[in-house]
Amino acid sequence: MAKQATILVVDDEAYVRESLAEVLGSEGFRVQTANGVAQAAERLALAEPDVILTDLRMGGGDGLELLRQVRSEGYTTPVVMMTGVGTLRDAVEAIQGGAYDFLQKPVDSSQLVLLLRRAVEHRELVSEVRTLRRTAGEVAAQRQLVGSSAALARVRALIAQVAPTDATVLVTGESGTGKELVGEQIHRGSARAAKALVRVNCAAVPPTLFESEFFGHRRGAFSGAVSDRVGRFAEAQGGTLVLDEIGTLPPEMQSKLLRVLENGEYQVVGESRTRVADARVVALTNENLPERVAKGEFRADLYYRLNVFPIALPPLRTHKEDLPAIALSILAGLRRTPGSGEARLSVEALDVLSSYDWPGNVRELRNVLERASIVAGARSIDAALLRALLEPTLAIAPSSGPDDFNLRRNLDAAEKQLVQRALDRSEGRKKDAAELLGIDPRNLGYYLRKHGMS
Ligand SMILES: Nc1ncnc2c1ncn2[C@@H]1O[C@H](COP(=O)(O)OP(=O)(O)OP(=O)(O)O)[C@@H](O)[C@H]1O
Ligand SMILES: [Mg+2]
Repeated sequence: MAKQATILVVDDEAYVRESLAEVLGSEGFRVQTANGVAQAAERLALAEPDVILTDLRMGGGDGLELLRQVRSEGYTTPVVMMTGVGTLRDAVEAIQGGAYDFLQKPVDSSQLVLLLRRAVEHRELVSEVRTLRRTAGEVAAQRQLVGSSAALARVRALIAQVAPTDATVLVTGESGTGKELVGEQIHRGSARAAKALVRVNCAAVPPTLFESEFFGHRRGAFSGAVSDRVGRFAEAQGGTLVLDEIGTLPPEMQSKLLRVLENGEYQVVGESRTRVADARVVALTNENLPERVAKGEFRADLYYRLNVFPIALPPLRTHKEDLPAIALSILAGLRRTPGSGEARLSVEALDVLSSYDWPGNVRELRNVLERASIVAGARSIDAALLRALLEPTLAIAPSSGPDDFNLRRNLDAAEKQLVQRALDRSEGRKKDAAELLGIDPRNLGYYLRKHGMS
């Protein structure tokens, strides 16, 4: 045993706890004790021991209850049960419930020490296998920020600076600029890399379920809570919690999140005791949070708390010098997928890519290249193909379904859609929109009124 292993001894009899602590202490274990399920859960929330050694029969919740709680909270800690005479059936139940092993009381100390050493080794092996698997998965995914522009170099430097700390990070940037990727790299570059990286898309959680999603709930805490649920903070314990689309967090959750970030404490829904959160938070958003704060839609104090270390990702159009390298790395990734031909890019094709503005950033580039490599098949991707893919598609949706052939109605609908698209493309600047539409800017107002647009 390289490092000193910690054993959490749980027994309601002080005498048993003390004598076990003495035996184990003299054998070189670090020992913590708890007088029952509740205290054990508290110890566990503070720091996970290497092995839990618990009595089966205790007043106020037995060893099986503790085992169930430990597993439902996502801990894989080996649990060794101590059983009284004639409780073999309970012992069997314990093993079926996921206990590592059991010992009959009175406990033989040399047998106990051997069993605990074995449990500690088992635990080390399990976590080693888990780390190996995770590393293999990451290598296969090969997710790296590609590009050597000064803009990306700055981003990399910020990641390197903040990753090893526990500081909360706020990653901002337009859609598709790589915010999730940055979240991953911060996790990988931290001391938490061997623990879980958990991502929650805040926009996908129904407002009524936020608390249970973040903090978990106990069975019966509310109607519909048919079983215990492990919250994301618990899943990310010791690791990193990525909160995607943080700007969509409802006001009530904003307050609750702020509280966790400030005191590091939270409560499982339906439970009265307080748990200690040990998850490093990385928040992502493509919204303008200061603007939302000014409008009173996002709590200013939460914004400042998240903005401890901001990382702003540049839109692709501002670092087009990276485009060839990014495009080639995307194609190299696609090539590994079977059936996706030998996608190559001509210089002219790269020119076409570089002349486009990429409002959807790297994600849009990836989508275009994916489509292009499918269409191109074994041929290389040429300029004409890319031009065709990048041309705004003029598929006008009919005004009221595929069976409506009324010319006036359909032309009106098409007109409205074109005006809308031009406004979107020019980000609401009417002069630019008019230019795109090929009309006099003074006439744009007529079309807006005609179609009831603002
Ligand atoms: N510099 C880069 N080099 C290589 N790949 C990148 C780079 N930036 C982004 N990507 C890739 O682009 C895609 C989109 O990135 P990501 O999912 O991180 O975007 P996002 O900022 O979270 O966008 P959204 O706000 O829409 O969720 C991913 O496949 C990501 O790997
Ligand atoms: Mg994203």
